[in-house]
Amino acid sequence: MITLGIETSCDETAVAIVEDGFTVRTNLIARQEHLHERFGGVVPEVAARTHVEALNPLLAQAMDDTGRDHRDLDGVAVTVGPGLVGALLVGMAAAKAISLAAKIPLVGVNHLEAHYWANFLDQGPPEPPYVTLIVSGGHTMLVHVRELFGHEVLGQTLDDAAGEAFDKVARMLGLGFPGGPALDAAARTGDPTAIRFPRAMEDSGDLDFSMSGLKTAVLRYVKAERAAGRDIDVPDLAASFQEAIVDVQVTKTIDAARRTGVARVLLGGGVVANTRLRERLVADGAAAGLEVLVPPLALCTDNAAMVACLGAARLERGDRSGLDIAADPNLPLAP
Ligand code: KG4
Ligand code: ZN
Repeated sequence: MITLGIETSCDETAVAIVEDGFTVRTNLIARQEHLHERFGGVVPEVAARTHVEALNPLLAQAMDDTGRDHRDLDGVAVTVGPGLVGALLVGMAAAKAISLAAKIPLVGVNHLEAHYWANFLDQGPPEPPYVTLIVSGGHTMLVHVRELFGHEVLGQTLDDAAGEAFDKVARMLGLGFPGGPALDAAARTGDPTAIRFPRAMEDSGDLDFSMSGLKTAVLRYVKAERAAGRDIDVPDLAASFQEAIVDVQVTKTIDAARRTGVARVLLGGGVVANTRLRERLVADGAAAGLEVLVPPLALCTDNAAMVACLGAARLERGDRSGLDIAADPNLPLAP
């Protein structure tokens, strides 16, 4: 079975072809960060317009790479939300057109669900239950996956997402956009104990998160140092900020596993590309007796292989979307 995946929920145009559900034949991404950099964030209209330009060449290249054409496809999977509505619509229009022209089934998938399905490429899903930590530019949540395709959200951020906090702090430090990878790199030579930032909600007794207090603490620190005429040690500040975020995520994730009694934790989303978060979750998870699955680096940030993988599994169980399926910017995980 050959499944085409299309992902355009934010600022990556992505197309992938996956065979037999889990084997990646091609996984293409056209990035547009350089177009958003000077605005300090993704501009929805620019993202949508750029998807329109990038998508058809990317689809043609995917067919070329694999020596296939539309008639060889058995199904097409596309992200329908959550994401930017104009951006989602571009991928969905293409997926609908291919489904109609090639007479193959269409399935719409949830972007957040696809993020943790990135763990299943090559190997397929292990037996549930598990807890998954989804951390991206738009979301930070802990989810109990009791069975495949069934979710219970255990906790989530009350304000900013983790990726958003990374991006905002990186911006304060002049590290560019998107700031997560730059801040991760800067932190590598810094001392994580140099500055003690608050661990927001670490002891709140629930599984929710809050990032805004930490962000404000960093801003206050930067302003105070500058007012005192001192230079900011960027690596130390980056490492200290990162450690505060990572500490809370590790504590809450292990707590979520303990509360639900699962033995396995899956990570997903762009922030899982963070070196320290991966390291700490794997090490601290193992110390707590948990198996922690982490997608390969290239499959943490937005891609279409994860969409094709989840879509193939949904098609396999008979899920179909009609051509009238709508984009949903706030699509929740299915209960
Ligand atoms: O999942 P993703 O590609 O897009 C969304 O669904 O939002 O996540 C993008 C987010 C951005 O905020 C980016 O700064 C962050 O993931 N990110 C990182 C790293 N790589 C990407 N954050 C921290 N460390 C990284 N290495
Ligand atoms: Zn994402």
